[in-house]
Amino acid sequence: MSKHWRPFIGMPGSKPLLSRRMAGIEPFHVMDILAQAREMDARGRDVVHMEVGEPDFPSPRPIVDAGIRSLQQGKTHYTAALGLPELRQAISDYYLSRFDVQVDAARIVVTPGASGALQLILGVLINPGDKVLMADPGYPCNRHMVRMFGGEAVSLGVKASQNFALSNDQVIRNWDSATRALMVATPANPTGRLLNPQQLRFLYDAVRAPAGMLIVDEIYQGLVYDQPVETALKLGQDNLFVVNSFSKFFGMTGWRLGWIVAPPEYVPALDRLAQNIFLAAPTMAQYAALAAFEPATLEILEQRRRVFQERRDYLYDVLVNLGFRIQGKPEGAFYLFADISAFSSDSFDFARKLLDEAAVAITPGRDFGSYRADRFVRFAYTTDLERLKLGVERLSRFLA
Ligand SMILES: Cc1ncc(COP(=O)(O)O)c(C=O)c1O
Repeated sequence: MSKHWRPFIGMPGSKPLLSRRMAGIEPFHVMDILAQAREMDARGRDVVHMEVGEPDFPSPRPIVDAGIRSLQQGKTHYTAALGLPELRQAISDYYLSRFDVQVDAARIVVTPGASGALQLILGVLINPGDKVLMADPGYPCNRHMVRMFGGEAVSLGVKASQNFALSNDQVIRNWDSATRALMVATPANPTGRLLNPQQLRFLYDAVRAPAGMLIVDEIYQGLVYDQPVETALKLGQDNLFVVNSFSKFFGMTGWRLGWIVAPPEYVPALDRLAQNIFLAAPTMAQYAALAAFEPATLEILEQRRRVFQERRDYLYDVLVNLGFRIQGKPEGAFYLFADISAFSSDSFDFARKLLDEAAVAITPGRDFGSYRADRFVRFAYTTDLERLKLGVERLSRFLA
């Protein structure tokens, strides 16, 4: 080798030269736990998975059939960047039939998952230095996506005693001239808590007063128990972006499909940005999703919702009896966010030991923020009741 040889950037083995923004993008800590759980699975150890944030059911048959049919019919080309017109119309019809809200299909933008929706919204709204308020704990990708666009995520700690919901007072106190938007999710990840229509109205008013934007993530809409399913779209159409997805309620995580309902004047910018970063959402998925609103599919989804409710009721009761503190039964999603301070002051260590010693995988609080994160873990009831019972048996032996 020449003595003048030296490694250069981009050469295998050299250190990658990453953008400064990457310093703020954290990995999912649960990925470590997931990797370890998968390795244990591979070694033949039977792990009970309560860390997985997606339904255990496969996509409903009518959706799968519609997807297969679209491929057989050669529908494999790009769609319009805003999405298939018939899917945008089907979503609009669904809002009318299920929620009694009129939403013009022209305001609906079909995206690659809620993830794509959030990127488009932040991309058209955020200037470098703009602040976006959000709850801690909350969905971790939100703060990373804000950073991706040069914005500053302002995480506001929310307590179990306030149902992990941001109050309008907190929003008003923390809003300054650099604040552009507030992001909320209802039902929320990781807490499963719902914002009631009045709370949403207060938040909307708090954000609208300084001409800010409210971004409401309704990805767990439909997975609501003991009360009617609502939508923030009833609030109005200005200063409001609603995000939704076919991932959770519709059981289509792997198809990568979601949508935005935007104020009409933002649609051309969303269209332009979508053309440039995604071109369009997956075509096969869009055709498959046309079957998502058929009565036969909705019946399957309703049965599944009841199964999730049964799991929630079981798991909530046993966890509380074991000494986990959960303030009230979460109204939605498929998560229980439990305070473990009766057992440990380090939820990451608790989750790791629970996996090592009892082969039960859960998610530590630090994946969802830093506010009191060491005290909380998330249990996902995305596994069947028999497995949940086995997990609970192991958990109680572990605690003993
Ligand atoms: C609150 C919330 N928003 C958005 C997403 C992203 O979902 P997807 O891109 O699959 O639609 C998730 C996924 O877990 C989530 O929990």
